[in-house]
Amino acid sequence: MLKPPHPVARLAYALAMWINPNNHALDGGRATSAMEKEAVAQIAAMFGWKEFLGHLCGGGTMANLESLWVASQVHPGKKILASAQAHYTHKRISAVLQLQCESVACDARGRMDVDALARSVARGDVGTVVATMGTTATGSVDPLPEILALRKEHGFRVHADAAYGGYFGLAGNLGEEATRSFACISEADSIVIDPHKHGLQPYGCGCVLFRDPSAGRFYKHDSPYTYFSSAELHLGEISLECSRPGAAAAALWTTQKLLPLVRGGEFARGLERGRAAALAFYQRLEKDERFVTAFAPELDIVIFAPRARSMSEACVFSRRIFDAAARRNLHLALAELPTDFWAANLGSMHRDRETMTCLRSVLMKPEHLDWIPRIWNELSEATSEVLRGEGTSRPTR
Ligand SMILES: Cc1ncc(COP(=O)(O)O)c(C=O)c1O
Repeated sequence: MLKPPHPVARLAYALAMWINPNNHALDGGRATSAMEKEAVAQIAAMFGWKEFLGHLCGGGTMANLESLWVASQVHPGKKILASAQAHYTHKRISAVLQLQCESVACDARGRMDVDALARSVARGDVGTVVATMGTTATGSVDPLPEILALRKEHGFRVHADAAYGGYFGLAGNLGEEATRSFACISEADSIVIDPHKHGLQPYGCGCVLFRDPSAGRFYKHDSPYTYFSSAELHLGEISLECSRPGAAAAALWTTQKLLPLVRGGEFARGLERGRAAALAFYQRLEKDERFVTAFAPELDIVIFAPRARSMSEACVFSRRIFDAAARRNLHLALAELPTDFWAANLGSMHRDRETMTCLRSVLMKPEHLDWIPRIWNELSEATSEVLRGEGTSRPTR
């Protein structure tokens, strides 16, 4: 998940570094604290929130830690549930917070299985359900409307981990199910989004938001030395981290001035182009006998594997194609994903494993759409090179 920060973000960050403001306290970064509050309010408004509590932080991990920490204060000792495809950070964070974290099974498209969730929450010991709004491996969006319906019945918190996918609520070209889920994200109790992923920011820019501003009570401390300058709330009073780069706020604020977070705007069009690129890439893969696809991308991540005699053989070929593509400067990723995701398309391939090592591409740069023919060429040549080297007759669908 890589894309360069917007030039204006780089410039604003670099200029702010002359002072190196610290957004821990107003005394440390007056202008950049104001910028942070404004930029975060714009992100909250994108989710439909006028009243909220939120701030920037180091990234998705810190932001999720803070969300689950608040969740643990609201429901002490109760379990955290996240899907089997949720980011691994939730298990680690739960361990830090000494909370039990349980995995909920996914359906064949990598989304939380609502029936499995219903069975788990019926036990009554669940404090928080993490809904992933775009999983890291496949960009699958958990079914938020159904999760919220279960909350009504069982009273758990819903935390939306939208670290990667959060901005896609602005895109006008999502499928029906993802659109439904993003449409009700404002009903979540907390939301995490990473401006340093899709928000065109340098690393070190995550954001956490709470629907109930009174979550601020959990941060209370009685330090005698930090906050002398005004009666107004300092960012350090509502954040687990203390010192933080004001430069990150300056970069985000400036970027959002130039590219407001609105549907139909230039920023939204960039997301739409990434999604269109993912769909175009997926369609080419689907038509080509050399590849097995799993399911259509919900956001801008595509997963695929080379067709082989068995899943084990496909795992080996995936790694070889990964290397051959990198030699051509096409940098893909590898992922290990359950057989269920592929089952409908494996054809005569021998199912000798529970997971398959596959190739993965995140088409998150707006330029990717124009580059699809070139990307396809490089992939095609890398794949032919690997399969030719094998010298065996290829299985078909
Ligand atoms: C859904 C999700 N949550 C959390 C994280 C962790 O975020 P970070 O790497 O910014 O700490 C990621 C990172 O890819 C993610 O995709």
